[in-house]
Parts: sequence; structure tokens; C-alpha cells
Amino acid sequence: MPDTDPQPSHRPAAHGIEEGNHPLPGWWSVAALISAVLAFGSLFLAVIRPDLTDPAASYDRAVTAELQAQFAEIGNLTPTAGTLGAFMTDPEKARWLRVGQAIFTTNCVSCHGSEGAGVSGPNLTDDHYIRVRELTDVADTVIGGSIAAGMPAWKDQLSMNEIVLVSAYAASLRGGFVEGKEADGEVIAPWFPGGAD
Ligand code: HEC
Repeated sequence: MPDTDPQPSHRPAAHGIEEGNHPLPGWWSVAALISAVLAFGSLFLAVIRPDLTDPAASYDRAVTAELQAQFAEIGNLTPTAGTLGAFMTDPEKARWLRVGQAIFTTNCVSCHGSEGAGVSGPNLTDDHYIRVRELTDVADTVIGGSIAAGMPAWKDQLSMNEIVLVSAYAASLRGGFVEGKEADGEVIAPWFPGGAD
């Protein structure tokens, strides 16, 4: 086989430019390494963990992490009407409703919208409900889902405390009447027929 690709240093000079075979300068290698690290860093942030640079998401994460550490304070919750109602109405428990909001932001907004006005899932801000008739039905729907209709069951994804808090938050969206998905289902009685709300 004829040698068609001679060593670069033996190539004839083209247009008066000669190819040399010098090692790369040290500063060049350092600059290349830094660019590669920065490129992978931005790729990581932009594609793999965009939430890390989203202030709203990191705020939610911080609030959830800090407050979840205090779960001991509220003990093990059960989804009774009394417990759900207390988180919705007691101003001293308002920060727990914010944890419910963070859980909602993380798990529910894809279908119910950031303000609960509905996307594929129903609008949770009006008085119309498909499955819910009273407060405990909100938690029951979250626990067991409505699989055939596209509402996942959360009993294996969230702790019972998280289910109670996100259900209280979801129920508290009622009455906001945010314009969004058209009302589905029937008008139901107020959460607190006595008028606590
Ligand atoms: C993948 C989409 C999806 C996600 C995620 C989702 N939902 Fe739903 N949700 C639905 C659909 C669809 C329905 C309607 C179910 C039906 O028609 O039986 C529904 C129904 C509900 C209802 C009952 C509404 C009614 O009219 O009776 C509540 C309450 C609810 N979801 C809360 C939540 C909460 C809280 C979360 C997050 C923990 C959540 N959903 C996450 C799709 C979703």
C-alpha cells in the first residue's frame, strides 16, 4: 500500500504554512478542561435538574424539608373531617397548609394546575365535584385515586401525613373560583355546613 498520509511534519508546506508538532500549551489544556467542566455543569442543570435553578422549586423544597423535619410536632395524622378541617381553618396550623401546598406543587399541578383550576384533572376551585361529597372524600380520592379516570392513587407515594396535608390544601382551594377547566360533576354542600368557613 502506498503511503498516502505521511507524518504531518513531513508534509510539504501549503501556502507557506508549515505544520509543526508541538505539545499543547499548558494554559490551553487548563482552559479546555474548565470549559468541559462548565459545559457538563450547565447540561446537568439545564437538562437533568432544571428545578435546581428554579427559585420557586427550591423554595418549595426548602420549606418542605425544613417543615417535614418537624412532622414529629403534629404526630401521625388520620384523614378525619376534624383533622382536615383543623388544618384548613386554624390560623396556628397555617404553615402546615403551606406544606400541603408544596406537596400539591410537586405532585398534583401537572393535572390540576398550579392554582387548582384544572388541566386534565378537574377544577378544584369551584363547588362542583365528581367523586367528592364531603371533606373526607377528598382524602379518600387522594388515597385510592380514580384510576380509570386518570387520577393516580397516592397511598404508596405519599405518607399519611402528606396525604392529610395535601388533601386539606386541595379542599381549601374550593371557593377560589379560578377560571380554568369547566365545572365537572355536581354542586355539593359546603365543607362546614355549620358555617365555619
Ligand atoms: C395524572 C393526573 C392527575 C394527578 C397527578 C392528580 N390528579 Fe387528582 N384527579 C385527576 C382526574 C382525572 C380526576 C377526576 C377523577 C374522576 O373523574 O373520577 C381527579 C380527581 C381529583 C379529586 C376529586 C375531584 C372531584 O371532582 O371529585 C381530588 C380531590 C384530587 N383529584 C386531588 C388530587 C391531589 C391532591 C393530587 C396530588 C396529590 C392529584 N389529585 C393528582 C387527575 C390527576
